[in-house]
Amino acid sequence: MDHFSYQNGEMFAENVSLKTIAREVGTPVYVYSTATLVRHFKVFSEAFSGLDALVCFAVKANSNQAVLATLAAEGAGADVVSEGELIRALRAGIPADKIVFSGVGKKAGEMAAALKAGIKQFNVESEPELEVLNSVAEKMGLIAPVSVRVNPDVDAKTHHKIATGKSENKFGIAWSKAEDVYARIAQLPGLRATGVDVHIGSQLTDLGPFKAAFEKVLGLVKRLRASGHTIDHIDLGGGLGIPYDPAEESPPSPGLYGAMIKEVLGDMDCSIILEPGRLIAGNAGILLSELLYVKQGEDRIFYIVDAAMNDLLRPAMYDAFHAIQPVDEPQSDHTIAADFVGPVCESGDTFATGRQTPELEPGDLVTVKSAGAYGAVLSSTYNTRELVPEVLVNDDKYAVVRARPSIDDLIGLDKLPDWLTR
Ligand code: LLP
Repeated sequence: MDHFSYQNGEMFAENVSLKTIAREVGTPVYVYSTATLVRHFKVFSEAFSGLDALVCFAVKANSNQAVLATLAAEGAGADVVSEGELIRALRAGIPADKIVFSGVGKKAGEMAAALKAGIKQFNVESEPELEVLNSVAEKMGLIAPVSVRVNPDVDAKTHHKIATGKSENKFGIAWSKAEDVYARIAQLPGLRATGVDVHIGSQLTDLGPFKAAFEKVLGLVKRLRASGHTIDHIDLGGGLGIPYDPAEESPPSPGLYGAMIKEVLGDMDCSIILEPGRLIAGNAGILLSELLYVKQGEDRIFYIVDAAMNDLLRPAMYDAFHAIQPVDEPQSDHTIAADFVGPVCESGDTFATGRQTPELEPGDLVTVKSAGAYGAVLSSTYNTRELVPEVLVNDDKYAVVRARPSIDDLIGLDKLPDWLTR
């Protein structure tokens, strides 16, 4: 459920008119709903009631300071994958002891920053990374809490670019090596094993692969404990999908996901960490755009909008479906088929092909839905288009939480070398 709905014939975000935002901030622009973010965080957290669970929002999904601060106020932790994300999470008020650090390529400097901050745990993804983390921690006179991210070799049955749990994927330590790696950790003075970590992919719409992976991990935890390792918690990663296309997808609810996890854990005495990203932020955001031109092609109608693949990369990158709705409430059920495309000079700059839509005219506003996760964070300035701004709505108020930079700001990042300035 989200808080974008028609009121008196036009779409509102909570109690703010999207037309007002378009007029005052301009388009394209991302609009997020506080009530939706908070609701998703609460519904997800409540699915784990009765368990000792820490919900660490995957910052990569939406790293805007205002979004992170909204979630921090609800008690969220953070899953970060770079020093930049670590700093973002800390600045937004997420305490270090609720931050986990994932990622296959952490640099020594990033490890040092996280150790200095005092994060909850490093999710380590390779043996060489373990050795580097150990030496960084030893030099600092600290002990790094680590979980090994294991690769359970389970097919997440999602888009191949966001599947991470098969042995051919770069993520996690090979399943057959996991126990040896814990034995090695026990020998390293700068490390302390505290848990086991797994994340098999993103936008999973079926509980089966999660269950298969979690059962494997539980078996591993039991074997590790039997060999004398203290394993206090299990990090189950993120990945629960959302209904981008309600006609095609019906992912399990957080409640069902939580019940499955409770069943798999049984009476295992351990706390859990969860790293949801998309589920919290996805349907809490839309991309608001204006229709520029209606072009009649040989065999199709192109709706050329002012948002493009540099603002929302998901359709070009993953052939992802995003619903598109006009801001003016349609007055009839009449629809036509149209291709929604952006101004960027690539055929891949297409948001939808042959999409049934109410007939639109230049100047009409449309919302590209479910764009709150992996939207603004993946945006760029390709074609020297200004970085897309972000707005956060809270009831009847809104604030620009990332302003649109000017073309001068953008070009000002480039510098001429001295041989070109004379
Ligand atoms: N934890 C780890 C270690 C991850 O790698 C990810 C996502 C998450 C948690 C959060 O997963 P979520 O709950 O959001 O599914 N750009 C792609 C998605 C990339 C996901 C990368 N990792 C997209 O737009 O679909």
